[in-house]
Formats: sequence, C-alpha cells, structure tokens
Amino acid sequence: MNILIIGSGGREHAIAWKCAQDDFVKQVYVCPGNAGTYLENKVSNINIDTTNFSLIEEFCVNKQIDLVIIGPEQPLVDGITDYLQGKGIKTFGPSKNAAQLEGSKTFSKDFFVKYNIPTAEYKSFEDFESSVDYLDKVSFPTVIKADGLAAGKGVIICKNKESGIAALDSIFNDKAFGNAGNRVVVEEFLNGEEASFIAVVSNDEIIPLATSQDHKAVGDGDVGLNTGGMGAYSPAPIVTEEMQKKILEKVMYPTMNGLIKEGFPYLGFLYAGLMIKDGAIKVLEFNCRFGDPETQPILIRLKSSLVELCLAAIDNKLDSYSIDWSNKHSCGVVIASKGYPESYEKNKEVKIKLHEDDDLKLFHAGTKYKDSKIITSGGRVFCATALGNDLKEAQEKAYNLVNNIDFEGSFFRKDIGFKGIK
Ligand code: AMP
Ligand code: GLY
Repeated sequence: MNILIIGSGGREHAIAWKCAQDDFVKQVYVCPGNAGTYLENKVSNINIDTTNFSLIEEFCVNKQIDLVIIGPEQPLVDGITDYLQGKGIKTFGPSKNAAQLEGSKTFSKDFFVKYNIPTAEYKSFEDFESSVDYLDKVSFPTVIKADGLAAGKGVIICKNKESGIAALDSIFNDKAFGNAGNRVVVEEFLNGEEASFIAVVSNDEIIPLATSQDHKAVGDGDVGLNTGGMGAYSPAPIVTEEMQKKILEKVMYPTMNGLIKEGFPYLGFLYAGLMIKDGAIKVLEFNCRFGDPETQPILIRLKSSLVELCLAAIDNKLDSYSIDWSNKHSCGVVIASKGYPESYEKNKEVKIKLHEDDDLKLFHAGTKYKDSKIITSGGRVFCATALGNDLKEAQEKAYNLVNNIDFEGSFFRKDIGFKGIK
C-alpha cells in the first residue's frame, strides 16, 4: 500500500513515521515534508504545489496511492478532500464545508449557538466602527479574533479598551491578517484550564484519541505571546473519564449531528479546544485536523495502526473498530528558532547527538536537508518526544533529548507537562 501525506510540520513527520511502521505499507510520500521525513525509513518527500489539486491527483494516479492523509487546515479549507474524493482517491480529512468549523470563527460560533454547544459569549463584526462601539458594552479582558485562518496568531487578548481599539485597527485597517480579518469576532474572556480533545470522526461515529494538553504561550508558566504550541503531553489528567463523557455528550455528538443536519457530515480528525473550569466545559475553537504538537505525544502512544484507523473512518466502520494505546505517558517539547512566534531566524545548521529508541523520537518540523546537513527553515524546528512510565519520567527523557540538539538561537520552554505533574 502507498500513502501520501500533505504537509511539512512535526505533525506530518509523526503521521508519516507512524504510517511507515505498518508492514503492509510499501511507501509513504510526504508533500512537501521536511528533513525528518526525508531521513525516515520507507518515507520520501515530493515537491508539488499543494494548492494545485490536479497535480496532486496526477501524482496519486502515477504512484498508485491508496490513501491520502491531509495534515494542515489550509488545503482542507480550500477543498482538497472534495477534489480528490471526487476523483475516486481515498482521502482522510473533512470536506471544504465541514472544515469551516476551523476556517471561519463566525461560522463556528453561529453553529455552536444553533446546536446548543457551550461557548463564550460573542458578537461578529464586518467593520471597524461598529466593533469599536461594541467595546463599550464588554468587560475586560476581552478577546478579539480574526474570522479566518491566521496560523494560530489571529487571537488577541485585550486588557482594556485602548488595546481593543488597537487590535481592531490592526485587523480591519492595517489588514494584519489579510482577508482572514475581513470579519472579526469579539468574545468574552474565559478563565480556566485548557485541554485539547481530539477524535477521529466519520459521520455519526467517533473514536476519541488519547487525551493531551498543549502549551500555547511562548514562555514558561504560560506567559508571553501565543504560539502554535510549544509542547504537549499525554494523557492529560484534567480530562478524566467523567469529563470525557461530558465532552462527548455536550460537544462532540452535538457537533457531529449538527454537521449532518447542515448537510456536511464530518470525516477526519476533529479537534476541540476547550476551556474547563469547575467541571464546566466551554469550546474555544474547533480545528479540522490533528493538533500540532499534540499529534507527536499522542501518536508515540498509539500501538495499533493509524492507516487502518483512517481507512475504517473512510469506510464508516468506526463503530466496530477499536484502537490500542500504550499505558505509558508521553511528553513532547518543541525547540524553536530565535524570534518565534514573531519573525524568526532561519538557515542555521543543526547538530544532533542522538540515540533514538522505541521510547524516544525526535520529530522534525521547520527543517530541510541540504548538502547532507540539517538546516532550520521554520519557527518551530523540532518536537523532542519521549515515553516514560509516568509523566515525570517522560518529561526527563524528552528534555534529555532536547539537550542533545543544538543550533544557533534555539530555545524551548522548560516546563512542558507541569500541569500534569503538579
Ligand atoms: P483559538 O484559536 O480560538 O483557540 O484561540 C487560541 C488561544 O487563545 C486559545 O488556545 C486560548 O489560549 C486563547 N483564547 C481563545 N479564546 C479565548 C477566550 N474566549 N478566553 C480566553 N482565552 C482564549
Ligand atoms: N496545538 C494547537 C493546534 O494544533 O492548533
């Protein structure tokens, strides 16, 4: 069997690494991939413009691809699944319509209200003046979000009216997020502890994946700017079995059933970003894909086949399918380039002293392979991921791995997993 994975991050490296472990998988292609996927056994990188769906289709036909897995949100929101499935190519990922859950904050917030899914109070605006007027009616801090995709950077938490006006000005007038900021959501600020709940969904069937918790802020103790995620661990004790039941009942099932009613049933990874406080859940956002970096610590714990899981979902057979997890705990620490999440350095040569084993894996993200060297090419460069008998052991091993990676200007958070250990 041959598999194509679209994307180039740590998530895609982890997905490719996992798929390549199945004996029945002959070759995994990653488009465009990174140095990690390039170096991986049974995996090769290809370079096709991922916005050109017909070129992707041609590649799938030529290489007899049996399954395409889409990593990031942009191609999903652009309709890559609809296109490839329309050509008879098995593709794991939601349709363009279903991907609006992530692609438009206004769509998702209106959807939450329509289907009674708990979320923060909000109002949506299409112009600067009326959104500024609305700031007189909210309490601070308040949250301002660009409607469209903004690579995890379109959310601004404003302490007072002045910073609210500045945020709206930068979105509407300076076009800080381009067309993603043509509409804006102004939303109630929620307190609590965040958790990621990620599942494989097919229509009205769902298999929850192992629980995890991300660390969004750039600095230790959750301070500083928001990033795509600086590290994650699994399982996350905040999502107890009872909490998981509640999330399924109050968030996941109403979402899946609501999408069916709207006429666009879901297929793919479905990621709910949640705020939990005193046992009550509110949805911050949905992502129409696997989380990054959550994928890395989750997949290192998955013992059964990811390929079979995706195929079962495509064939709508999740109800009769079950997956196996390692009882071990995992921790993934992101190593980033100086400057991230703002403009960051690139083209630094990486030195790796590394002995990977079954419990230890260095997933690449922003790297490329050039002249037999690994060179940095992104803000998040690696996710050092480890398994341990408990979270503390997993954390120690992950940091041991981190200390064996060196490039100029590298930095990482020193406290990944602290909420699970405290
Ligand atoms: P989103 O892309 O909507 O998940 O937002 C990114 C991050 O911003 C979240 O993971 C939270 O850390 C923060 N955030 C978003 N919405 C809120 C909110 N209503 N209250 C507090 N923090 C929020
Ligand atoms: N780690 C957060 C995300 O994937 O959006």
